[in-house]
This record gives sequence, structure tokens and C-alpha cells, in this order.
Amino acid sequence: MKATSPILLLGLAILMLSLSCAIPNPVFNNFFPCLSSHSSPLYPISEVFYTSNNSSFLSVLHSYIRNRRFSTSATPKPFAIVSAKHEFHIQSTLICAKQCGLQVRIRTRGHDYEGLSYVSQVPFVVLDMFNLRSIDIDMSKSTAWVQAGATLGELYYRISEKSNVHAFPAGVCVGVGTGGHFSGGGYGNLMRKYGLSVDNIIDAKLVIVNGTILNRESMGEDVFWAIRGGGGASFGVILSWKIKLVPVPAKVTVFNKKWILENNATDVVYRWQQVAHKLPNEIFTRAVAQVVNGGQKGKETVQVSFVGHFLGQSNSLIPLMNERFPELGLLQTDCIEMSWIECTIFWADLPNGTSIDALLKRASEPDIFFKAKSDYVKKTIPKAGLESIWKLMIEIGFRGLMQWNPYGGRMSEILESETPFPHRAGNIFQILYFVTWVEEGTVVSNHYINMTRTFYNAMTSYVSKDPREAFLNYRDLDIGHASPNSNESLSSAKVYGAKYFKENFDRLVRVKTMVDPDNFFKNEQSIPPLPPYV
Ligand SMILES: Cc1cc2nc3c(=O)[nH]c(=O)nc-3n(C[C@H](O)[C@H](O)[C@H](O)COP(=O)(O)OP(=O)(O)OC[C@H]3O[C@@H](n4cnc5c(N)ncnc54)[C@H](O)[C@@H]3O)c2cc1C
Ligand SMILES: *[C@@H]1O[C@H](CO)[C@@H](O)[C@H](O)[C@H]1NC(C)=O
Ligand SMILES: *[C@@H]1O[C@H](CO)[C@@H](O)[C@H](O)[C@H]1NC(C)=O
Ligand SMILES: *[C@@H]1O[C@H](CO)[C@@H](O)[C@H](O)[C@H]1NC(C)=O
Ligand SMILES: *[C@@H]1O[C@H](CO)[C@@H](O)[C@H](O)[C@H]1NC(C)=O
Ligand SMILES: *[C@@H]1O[C@H](CO)[C@@H](O)[C@H](O)[C@H]1NC(C)=O
Ligand SMILES: *[C@@H]1O[C@H](CO)[C@@H](O)[C@H](O)[C@H]1NC(C)=O
Ligand SMILES: *[C@@H]1O[C@H](CO)[C@@H](O)[C@H](O)[C@H]1NC(C)=O
Repeated sequence: MKATSPILLLGLAILMLSLSCAIPNPVFNNFFPCLSSHSSPLYPISEVFYTSNNSSFLSVLHSYIRNRRFSTSATPKPFAIVSAKHEFHIQSTLICAKQCGLQVRIRTRGHDYEGLSYVSQVPFVVLDMFNLRSIDIDMSKSTAWVQAGATLGELYYRISEKSNVHAFPAGVCVGVGTGGHFSGGGYGNLMRKYGLSVDNIIDAKLVIVNGTILNRESMGEDVFWAIRGGGGASFGVILSWKIKLVPVPAKVTVFNKKWILENNATDVVYRWQQVAHKLPNEIFTRAVAQVVNGGQKGKETVQVSFVGHFLGQSNSLIPLMNERFPELGLLQTDCIEMSWIECTIFWADLPNGTSIDALLKRASEPDIFFKAKSDYVKKTIPKAGLESIWKLMIEIGFRGLMQWNPYGGRMSEILESETPFPHRAGNIFQILYFVTWVEEGTVVSNHYINMTRTFYNAMTSYVSKDPREAFLNYRDLDIGHASPNSNESLSSAKVYGAKYFKENFDRLVRVKTMVDPDNFFKNEQSIPPLPPYV
């Protein structure tokens, strides 16, 4: 993690203090006996419990780390991992961690951009959810119960086994876990038509701090509201979601049309800003900017890929785009028609011809380090602004990509207060900055992290302000964080809370106070309860 933060240094100091206090009789060593005494013999805990004494400990830990920044030898390791196979394992983990003074980090598939699902500065346990991954679809009602450990790829695949005209609005990265992804908002290329994942969730099962399992009815509408976009990890352990499937046509159309600066990419992007959020809801066209070597005489230039998704066939798309967005120059030959399930392979950037069975495969260990940030844009960036953005990308040697996702459509129809996710009407597009590198070492990491921050600072005048909004699923500790080991005041949580949730932050705090008043479920960017709490 970032060794520069004074708050984290404080956290480390407290950690060392608490370890040294504990040495005579490490209370953590009671954790396994406690688990055993709280478990059913039908579901032995020893099959799912790992500490550094188990030879597979590190491979289990690393198997769901998606960012190499958090798999170095310097990354703090958990005291134990529980890879739950049954809800009993979750209940006993919560009860015993509380008893032994261990923090719990809930991990579904480990895509958290800051590694919060498996890194902590205080003694902690990782509760792994990947084994709890069943998907139960009821086509007669177009609904499904999805366990939190299922990936998006597994969900999409299981839907396609039942129907080729149903889908679910969620992310394009098929290895992402529904536990983290849905509770953080979750969006993909159906967003302009159907909104976010959370806009299509109708029930859920949640394990709260005392081990009780609640559903929508028993948790009440406030808690059900909070876990749909407020981040599950502040409120409890999400066991499963009940979702409403959405209709899609048997054939959809995708395209990836690339422009570089030398071919007037700036004009196309400028126009994209004016039209992409106003096009019919069936069209989602993402713009992805990258520095490439494709300029004149092999010089570096910026390439912008317009990656599109249309719920319909190309013979209706082409005339529509020619009329509304002729600058893109979309041709019939740019368009590929396929079933919705096939297009998940296209969007996941898997090689052409990859079988949809790939959706069921576990992602291989990542080869990249990355730092990400997000922004929201409410007014068109002028051409001169775009030109200075490209210039800076080339100047600083921007690596990775900048992704612009159009809003509008269904997103503008849903009130800001309807879910904790507040970025609705008034947003033209969202930005993801995703800087990647492969070289090891802190010097290189610091360089690219610094570059990401420099670039983000340079974007200030073009993006939302007061607050500068951010997307929870694109977690970024730079926008404010609390040390989970200190008595943070509400005001420090309000700094990141306002950016992720705007006015919804206060309601999230009230819900937290109801469901977890002692602040057991916490991390660097969790929702705190109202004081007093420990
Ligand atoms: C390559 C890549 C592509 C992505 N693409 C998209 C995209 O298209 N759209 C989008 O919206 N996002 C996208 N994301 C972001 C992604 O949605 C978030 O990182 C999401 O939180 C990941 O969920 P996870 O379960 O895999 O992660 P984890 O790291 O396991 O969890 C993330 C957070 O949720 C908490 N959590 C996890 N499971 C539970 C649970 N069962 N109960 C309570 N809390 C839980 C964790 O404690 C942590 O705070 C992408 C991320 C990556 C790395
Ligand atoms: C890890 O080690 C402990 C103690 O030796 C053992 O009880 C447990 O079964 C091991 N875990 C696994 C998954 O084998
Ligand atoms: C590992 O095993 C040793 C010897 O049994 C024990 O003293 C130690 O506490 C164990 N460590 C953990 C992390 O369980
Ligand atoms: C757990 O907490 C809930 C909500 O406060 C309460 O209704 C329930 O009785 C508690 N259960 C146990 C076993 O303490
Ligand atoms: C770019 O725009 C200029 C001015 O509008 C025009 O003259 C030129 O032909 C365009 N270049 C390309 C490659 O489209
Ligand atoms: C994949 O390749 C085939 C054959 O070369 C081609 O017809 C098809 O359009 C390609 N699909 C994608 C998604 O690029
Ligand atoms: C970060 O980048 C800025 C601008 O490029 C530079 O001035 C500064 O020295 C860098 N800081 C570190 C710590 O590398
Ligand atoms: C937090 O506050 C409580 C109550 O005031 C106190 O007992 C506890 O020691 C404090 N913890 C830290 C880490 O400061």
C-alpha cells in the first residue's frame, strides 16, 4: 500500500503495538478453536481454514488478487483465510473474529482497485466467498437467485443456457464477482437501456454482524437500499441477490471503430460528447483513448476506439448513426452481429473465436500493476481542451487507457436518491483512468501512481466539482480515506462519502448505525455509524 500516508503509518504503529501486547497469549490463536466450536460437523471448518502454516496459504491468498500492487512481499497478509463453503462458515467467522479482535475483509473475486477485500493494516481474516456461487434461474418469472461468489461470466453463461433473448445489465469484465460488483453499483453496456445492476435487483440475503441472515423483508427497505450501491462491506456479508432479467433481441450489433489524432479524432470525440448520451437507449458507445505508436513516421499519437453496442441489427443502426453521428463514419463492414452471449466475449476483449465456455473459466493471475481513478463530466469539453488532454497523455507517457462511458437514457430517469449511487441525470459521461504497468518495484509504481495523479489534477477544470464525484466500484483511496483502526470522525468519512454518494451519504450513515452500530464491518472507505462507537 502507499507508505506515504501518515494515516497508514499511524495504523502500522497501532498494529505493532497491538501485536506486541498480544504476544504473551495471542488471542488470534483462539480463532480456529472458536471456529471449530461454532461449526456444524456436517460442514467441517478445517476444510476451508488456512493460515501461514498451511502450505497452500499464499496460493489461496493470491488466487483472487487482480492487481500486482497488492501481491508483493510487503503487502500485509491476513492472519487467516476462510474460504466459506456454507453459510455456517460465514456466521462462525463473524462471531469468532469479533471475539478474537480480528477484522474481517470480505472477498468475492478480488477486483477491488485498492485491494480492500484482502489487505488491511490491522490483524485480519479474509472471508472468501468464491465457493458460494450457485445460480438459480426461474424463466417463468424472468428472475434469478445468484450467490455472491458467482462471477458475471458465470451469470451470463447460465442465462444463455435458458434463453437467448434475456440478459442482465452488469459489467463487461466477466471475472468480476457479483458480491462486490453489484453492491458497488455495477454497470456495463446495457446501462443506457436498463440502468445499473442495482436498478434490477429485487431481493437479497445478508449476514449481519451477529450472524443472523436477513432477506429484503426482514432487513427492511433501508438496509436493502444501502447494500444496492453503498458497498456491501459496510453492512454485512451479502450471500445472494435476486435479480430481474431484462429482454434483449436475438441478435445485437457491436463495432470497434478507431480514430487517431492525425485523422481528426478530436472532431469525432468532440461530437461524441454532444450525441452519445442523447442517442436512443439501445446504443451504448464507449470512447477509449490510448497512446499508440501509430502516428506519422511511427510517432506516438492518441488513438480513440469507439466501442459500440446496439440492441438491434446493423441495417437499423447504420442509417441511425449516419443521421445522428456521421462524424464516426460507421460502415456496414465495421459492424458484427451476434447473440448477446457472444458479445460478452467481444466486450471482455477475449480473442475473436473464443468459445463462450471461457466465461466459466477462472481468470489467470494478473500480469499487471494498476492505479485507477474516476470522474464525471457534465459539460462538453471544448476542442482546445481535448487537444491539451491528448498532448499531456503523450508528454507524460500515459500507459493504459482512459475510458469515457456515455450516460443519459435510463440513467437520467432514475432519481439520485433511489439508490446510494447518485450519478444520474446531468452527467454526460463517466471517466475511468486506468494506468497499467508491468515492471516491478516501488520506484516504478510510484512513478505511475504519481503520473495518474498528475493527469487527474490536469482534468480538474473539465469535470464535476463540489463534490468532484467518483464511482465506488472504481475505488480510489486518494479521494479520502480513514484509518480503520482509529476513531474516525464522521467528517473525515464525509470527504469520500460525498464524492461517492453525494446527499445519500447521510442516509447510509443512519442505516449503518442501525445494522452495525459498533462498526465491526469497516475498511479505509467504509460508512461509519453515528458516534458513540469504538
Ligand atoms: C478488470 C476490471 C474490470 C472491471 N469492469 C467493471 C465494469 O465493467 N463495470 C463496473 O461497474 N465495474 C467494473 N470493475 C470494478 C468492479 O466492479 C469492482 O472492483 C467490484 O467491487 C469487484 O467485485 P469483486 O467481488 O470482484 O471484488 P472484491 O475485491 O472481492 O470486492 C470488492 C469490494 O466489495 C466487498 N465485497 C465483496 N464481496 C462482498 C460480499 N459478498 N458482501 C459484502 N461485501 C463484499 C469487498 O469487501 C470490497 O470492499 C472492474 C474491475 C476490474 C479489475
Ligand atoms: C490448515 O492447517 C490446519 C492446521 O494444521 C488444518 O487443521 C487445516 O485442515 C488446514 N487447512 C486445509 C484447507 O487443509
Ligand atoms: C503455526 O503452527 C505453530 C506450531 O503449531 C503455532 O505455534 C503457530 O501459532 C501457528 N501459526 C498460525 C498463524 O496459526
Ligand atoms: C441479531 O440482530 C438482529 C437485529 O438487531 C436481531 O433481530 C436478532 O435477534 C439478533 N440475533 C441474535 C442471535 O442475536
Ligand atoms: C481533418 O479536418 C480537416 C479540417 O476540417 C480536413 O481538411 C481534413 O481533410 C481532415 N482530415 C481527415 C484525415 O479526415
Ligand atoms: C472473427 O473472425 C471472423 C473470421 O475471420 C470474422 O468473420 C468475424 O467478423 C470476426 N468477429 C469479430 C468479433 O471480430
Ligand atoms: C510527480 O510528478 C510531477 C509532475 O510530473 C513531478 O513534478 C513530481 O516531482 C513527481 N513526484 C514524484 C514523487 O515523483
Ligand atoms: C476509540 O474510542 C473508544 C471510546 O471512546 C476508546 O475506548 C478506544 O480506545 C478508542 N480507540 C482508538 C483506537 O483510539
